[in-house]
Amino acid sequence: FPLQSLNTFGIAARARAYLRVTEREQLLGVFADPIWAASPKLVLGGGSNFLLTQDYPGLILHIALQGREVVGGDADFHYVRAAAGENWHDFVQWTLAQGIGGLENLSLIPGTVGAAPIQNIGAYGLETKDVFHCLTAFDPASGSTREMGAAECRFAYRDSVFKQDDGRRLIVLDVTFALPKAWRPNLRYAELAQALVEQGIAEPSARQVADTVIAIRRRKLPDPAVIGNAGSFFKNPVVGGAQCAALLERFPALVHHAQPDGTQKLAAGWLIDQCGWKGRSLGAAGVYPKQALVLVNNGGATGAEVVALAEAIQADVQARYGVLLEPEPVFI
Ligand code: EPU
Repeated sequence: FPLQSLNTFGIAARARAYLRVTEREQLLGVFADPIWAASPKLVLGGGSNFLLTQDYPGLILHIALQGREVVGGDADFHYVRAAAGENWHDFVQWTLAQGIGGLENLSLIPGTVGAAPIQNIGAYGLETKDVFHCLTAFDPASGSTREMGAAECRFAYRDSVFKQDDGRRLIVLDVTFALPKAWRPNLRYAELAQALVEQGIAEPSARQVADTVIAIRRRKLPDPAVIGNAGSFFKNPVVGGAQCAALLERFPALVHHAQPDGTQKLAAGWLIDQCGWKGRSLGAAGVYPKQALVLVNNGGATGAEVVALAEAIQADVQARYGVLLEPEPVFI
């Protein structure tokens, strides 16, 4: 089964088999079926967070569950639920159209609702964990579904239990968000606050914040429908305070952000840019000219070419800064 249109990198790999899951019962069927029980299975949402490095020898489970609703509210929150297969950006815009703010900073992130907690997607000063209420997951080991709260999901920067050994098998079916009734714009990210000031907007609405985030993203990030990519290819590395201080002595312009625990988050895009990689290519894989953190498929790239480029970048950044960049997408 051809996978090129199912991964935003646009890599032309194939899978042995494919199932579009539109009903929860299909999952039960697949895991109970002896023919498929032993086969490797890959759960796929929007295809925006993995890199295919070869053909996939098993079954692709494409989660296409649909549905979204405001499920209730209390004194403090609106509770909004969406099925895992809903497009993330469309869902965010729909909440705003309902007059419910809170997700606007995460506008235009590619992918599905089901992938949001797995990656703990985040941008412009907001992470999924900040607005998460609970989710429903299917556990193939027991064949049952269960509800999971934030603590059980073990959210961290671009990470959750669903990326760890004890949670990798779980399949997210739907996600419920708690969005504050007393909405306030979240302008923690300096570039977003600045962009609103430049438009002369002092007290932005949620819609105006969304539009500004969309404009910033369109300026810096390639549209996967036009140029294959998976967003940030590397996580921003976190280093100890002492290591950061030592680096600052040699590189005074080093971009760094202090974390609550005393560590420092560096900007991988800056490190890659400084190593001269911005806009460069190796074969058909390249570094996006407007944001060095994004690797792109310039047309016909193989997964191996993207991996070769990523490794060359990692080696240069390691040699110059002593920092290992960790890829964000999952390699298949
Ligand atoms: N920078 C450079 N050169 C570059 C790119 C960045 O010098 O080519 C510098 C910028 O000038 C800035 C700093 O690096 O000082 C940070 O850049 P930016 O604000 O663009 O954000 P980022 O750290 O590169 C992160 C997320 C993005 C998210 C933005 C906004 C990660 C790995 N990436 O990028 O997330 O949209 O912040 O919040 O955390 C994604 O995960 O796919 C993604 C796009």
